[in-house]
Amino acid sequence: MTDPKRQMILATFIHNSGAHPGGWRWPGGPAVDQHDFAHYAHLARTAERGKMHCYFSGDSVGFPSISGKEAFAATDYAGKLEPTTLLAALAMVTQHIGLVATASTTYNEPYNIARRYASLDHLTKGRAGWNVVTSASDGEARNFGRDMNLDHALRYERAEEFVDVVRGLWDSWEDGAILRDRAAARYFDPEMVHELGHEGKHFKVAGPLNVARPPQGHPIIVQAGGSGAGRALAARTADLIFTAARSLEVAQEFYADMKARAAAFGRNPDHIKVIPSVQFMVRSSEEEARRAEAELLDLVPEALALRTLSLQLGVDLSHLSPEDRLPDLPETNGGKWVQESIVRMAREEDLPIGVLARRVVVSRASFSYSGTPEQVADLCETWFREGGADGFSLSPNYQPGALEDFVDQVIPILQKRGLFRTEYEGATLRENLGLARPENAFVANPALGREPRMWA
Ligand SMILES: Cc1cc2nc3c(=O)[nH]c(=O)nc-3n(C[C@H](O)[C@H](O)[C@H](O)COP(=O)(O)O)c2cc1C
Repeated sequence: MTDPKRQMILATFIHNSGAHPGGWRWPGGPAVDQHDFAHYAHLARTAERGKMHCYFSGDSVGFPSISGKEAFAATDYAGKLEPTTLLAALAMVTQHIGLVATASTTYNEPYNIARRYASLDHLTKGRAGWNVVTSASDGEARNFGRDMNLDHALRYERAEEFVDVVRGLWDSWEDGAILRDRAAARYFDPEMVHELGHEGKHFKVAGPLNVARPPQGHPIIVQAGGSGAGRALAARTADLIFTAARSLEVAQEFYADMKARAAAFGRNPDHIKVIPSVQFMVRSSEEEARRAEAELLDLVPEALALRTLSLQLGVDLSHLSPEDRLPDLPETNGGKWVQESIVRMAREEDLPIGVLARRVVVSRASFSYSGTPEQVADLCETWFREGGADGFSLSPNYQPGALEDFVDQVIPILQKRGLFRTEYEGATLRENLGLARPENAFVANPALGREPRMWA
């Protein structure tokens, strides 16, 4: 039986001027300067006014694709601020909302990431989260000494070990290790600081970290893998799971699978929260909402839609015409789940490439819907009650208008129905998600704690 007091988790994405590639051209809003802090500060404060759980900045470590430069010049995907830097600044203008950013396990070292997110967690007093990605594109690989990305299976194998090392480093200082005892000349207690001494297939990391244990113990771990390997990583390590589901049925399959996988790892399924990303166009009538959706799509040049489809599928389709059907595709080394979802949509509805591209360019493989505030709230309620979601991550299609519409028109309905909170209950993101602070592995298992050689 479902808990009658269970409430939704709501996050919002930052996508420059919007998740929709036409968003930056939307005539009803400003021409956003996405390198301007004031823009993001307004969005974060708006989301916080709506009592949303977290504000999420996705990221990749590369330009979308240099071969499609001409087409990509029509959107603002390419230029953006580095997310952890941005979130550190946002920490100073917000008080409650969680601040989550993507960082790659393929193009970083665990020590750097442990340190960066521990610092962010201290700066935010426990509001930081890390979206763990393995990075899907060769364009990113080329910025890090490689011609091609690592093989998908190897990327996830490295990611599994990477997350363990980061968590170990976060535990290397016990809570309370910092004494600041001036009389005794004891800044910290050396018995409470541990070397990690990790030696694995991919990493050799001594530790300890040079940052004290984060306020949340571990910053929140977010994951969005959809393949078998991605789901396994998420089920074992993540607190919060992003996903793309273009229908309730797809969301239900993913939700049930993730909860079952978490249980198989010995975790309480309620302790991993699954939040599909959704894109809404909210207007006072359904007809108006549909019209606005069509107007927004008209702002996207066909060449950009076709390029985006190629990029999402990980296959160059430029030799085909928009009237052609999708051919059989080679398996991608990029995002497998995204490729599968798009191919399934094309086959099920027998879509020509041009039509498919216009769908994919809007929301990739996620759900997009246009309607009145009541209809949007109904839809969220149905997905939430019928085993499709623990909440949602809103992908506003243009900024700041679509976020403001959701906060001002949809959230009050969800609150009135008792489906969403009216105040932040906790001080940290972890508390606001209803998740326990993890026990320190060195405390739980003293055998792990070696003599701290470094300090001897
Ligand atoms: C909602 C959502 C947000 C994502 N954000 C990012 C991101 O910021 N950076 C990134 O490189 N990949 C991102 N991804 C891609 C996933 O990390 C993953 O590569 C993709 O879902 C394919 O799954 P697979 O790697 O298991 O094949 C996102 C995916 C989803 C569904």
